[in-house]
Order: sequence, then C-alpha cells, then structure tokens
Amino acid sequence: MMNILLLGSGGREHALAWKLSQSKLCSKLFISPGNPGTSTCGENISIGVNDFDALAAFCREKKIDILVVGPEDPLVNGIYDFMKADATLKDLIVVGPSAKAAQLEGSKAFAKAFMDRNGIPTAAYREFTKENLAEGRTYIQQHSLPVVIKADGLAAGKGVVIATTHEEALRTFEEMIVDAKFGEASSKVVIEQFLKGVELSVFAITNGKQFALLPEAKDYKRIGEGDTGLNTGGMGAVSPVPFAKGDFMSKVIEKVVKPTIDGLFKEGLVYNGFVFFGLINVEGEPFVIEYNCRMGDPETEVVMPRLKSDLIDLFLAMENHTLDDTEVEVDSRAACTVVMVSGGYPGDFEKGKVITGLDQAFSDHTMVFHAGIKAASDQLLTNGGRVAAVTSYGDSIKNAVAASVKAIERIEYDKKYFRTDIGYEFK
Ligand code: AMP
Ligand code: GLY
Repeated sequence: MMNILLLGSGGREHALAWKLSQSKLCSKLFISPGNPGTSTCGENISIGVNDFDALAAFCREKKIDILVVGPEDPLVNGIYDFMKADATLKDLIVVGPSAKAAQLEGSKAFAKAFMDRNGIPTAAYREFTKENLAEGRTYIQQHSLPVVIKADGLAAGKGVVIATTHEEALRTFEEMIVDAKFGEASSKVVIEQFLKGVELSVFAITNGKQFALLPEAKDYKRIGEGDTGLNTGGMGAVSPVPFAKGDFMSKVIEKVVKPTIDGLFKEGLVYNGFVFFGLINVEGEPFVIEYNCRMGDPETEVVMPRLKSDLIDLFLAMENHTLDDTEVEVDSRAACTVVMVSGGYPGDFEKGKVITGLDQAFSDHTMVFHAGIKAASDQLLTNGGRVAAVTSYGDSIKNAVAASVKAIERIEYDKKYFRTDIGYEFK
C-alpha cells in the first residue's frame, strides 16, 4: 500500500486525485495545496509547491512513497533533484523529470535543439538574444508569414505570438528581448515557421528508457466558439481524437515518441513521469509544437476518466522498469470536458462569486472537477479564471459534449461562461 503526495491545485490535480484515490494500492492520499474537489479524494495540506524543504519534511513524516508533481514550475525548479539528493528519501518515487530534462518544457530553445539532434520532426527555427538582435530583425523581415515568435522560458502560456505581418513580428520580438516583456524568460527568443494543421496532445509515462502511452486528447484553447478570440489555459478537451489511429499514430510513435525517449537515454537526461507531446498533424505527418514535462490541463480531465488501468500500477511499472510489459487499458467510451470560466477571462475577471448546483450536475456519466474554486463556510466561491471542468462520457464525442453542456445548465454563478462547441470538428 502506498502513501501519495500530489502537488497542485487545478482541475488537472482534481482529476489525478480522483484517479489515484480509486487505486487498490492507495493507502493515504495528500494533496498540496489542492482545492475543495481534491478534499473529497484525500486530505488537502497547505505547503507551497515550491517549498521543497517543507515538502521533504512532510514526505519523511508521513512516510510518503510516491510524490506526483502536477504543474511544471516545481519540476523546472528542480524538485526531482532536490528529493533525490536527500538520503533520507532515497526510496521516494518522484513522478516528474529532473530539472535538466524539464528544460524540454522550460526552454523552447533547449527543446528545439534536442529535436534537431534526435531527428524529431518540428518547425524550422532560429534562436536570438540581445547579442544577435540585428540578425534576428533581418531574419524576421525575410521570413514567410505568418511567423511564430516564442519566448524561450516559461511565460504562463502567454509567450507565443503568431504574427501575421512583419511589423507585428518585429514589435513582438523587440518587446520580448529589448523590453524584457517576460523578464528572463524572453531574454532568448525562438522564431519559427508556422505549421498548418490540427493539433493534438499525446501523453506517455516514461522512465527515460521505456514508455507506455495514455489516451490522447485534443484541447480547445481559444475563448470563443469556433476557435475565435484570445488564447486561454484551455476551454475544453475531448478524447479520443478520431484521426489519432492507424498510420498516423504509428508515425507518432516511430517518428516522435521513440526518438524522444531514445534521445533522453542517449543524452543522459533523467526522466521519470509524464511526457506531453504537443503535436500538429500536417497533412498526415506529425510535427512537435512543444513538449511539456507534466500532464495537460484540461486534457487530464478526459485522459484520467478514460484510463482504466490503475495509475499507481503504472507508476510502479515506471519505477520497476516493467513499462514495456504493461498493457494500458482504456475505456472505449468517448469523454469530453467543458471548462466553465469566470466572465471576462482571459482578461480581467472578478472572483468570489457564489457557485450553486455543482452537486446536481453529477450523474452516472457526468462529473465535475474543481479548478478555481474555494470553500468559504458552507459555500463554494469562484477563485480563478477557470472555475470547473465538467466531464462526461458518451457513446460519441457529440453525445459526451451534449451531456456536459446540459449538466452545466444546473451550475450557476454570476457571469458564468463556457463554450458549447467543444469537439466541433468531430461531430
Ligand atoms: P506553445 O506554448 O508552444 O504550445 O504554443 C501555443 C500555441 O501556439 C500552440 O498550441 C499552437 O496552437 C500555436 N503554435 C505554436 N507553435 C506553432 C507553429 N510552429 N505553427 C503553428 N502554430 C503554432
Ligand atoms: N492544455 C495545454 C497545457 O496544459 O499546456
């Protein structure tokens, strides 16, 4: 039996906590800091995800066997290395890569160079800093349009601009490098070719040598119906992705997943945990848009519900090097999640709105994962841009989405907003 500590506080972590709590191997589950949803799956504690000393002390005190890291921040900051350097925690299984390997997400330039070295298909690119600013300007002026400008480091999902004119591209480039729009994160900038196609998210659990694939998903990032308006953290997701099968999926495995895992091994990058391949299907060929070193949000809210295998079993297979012999069992039903957000998001929005009807939204095929929600006496209040993710199963994507949209009618708070067209291409 295993004691688990899960870090994070969003919808992704509620979905992970929900899944972990069902494991036959789960003894005690702690979530730090968690949200009111995760408190129904285990015990919330309040240690910050970057307070490594306090987290290590907690792991010792509660005899934690597995530390599952939800968000990227502590991974890029080196939580894996910190725990592994502590002799008193030598048996702790950390689900998350070393700081060096987390650079696959933490530095776009690092990820691009890794892909180049390992022959992994990705958009053509160049990287620039203050040192070669003039060269960067010339490169942009001569680049075809649209052109993609990316801050190298973590920028909370705001560091990518797809510029449709050279003026916009130059302005963005200078804001990032000269005006340090994202501080250190934009002191280096990647300029890359625009790829046209449909995106999807593919997930693996790996130990840096072997891997097992989880169900794939597609997320919907734009705020408006029909994929219009500003980018958000994610307005919904569906799984499966109908085109992620047969020949295309074989190419994903042979051209992307295997060369990535082999590259980690060859380059001595210590990697345990989830790899998130952000892919784009360009006329039947997969290209990598980005790597993330953690699960996606809101993708996790459809991936975990479709995963039938015991998640702790998969973590143990990762640790014990038996992933190659592990069959991942997947629910044959479709799943969708529709994210309810605060009115105004991703711009300014108000928090603290009273939420009613959450309990009434549950049914035998629908559940609600909490994201930006906090408990105050006996009420639930909105506490973020993304408030909740309403996940449903269905015999088709269309029916799953219809079930979530119907369930959302029961949930009320001032200025509630959501998209009704998640999965629209697949109906
Ligand atoms: P990223 O933060 O790298 O995931 O980029 C955010 C979003 O920008 C992606 O999900 C894509 O929709 C888009 N994007 C990034 N790079 C490219 C590219 N080279 N071509 C087309 N779209 C891109
Ligand atoms: N859904 C995209 C992400 O988690 O980065």
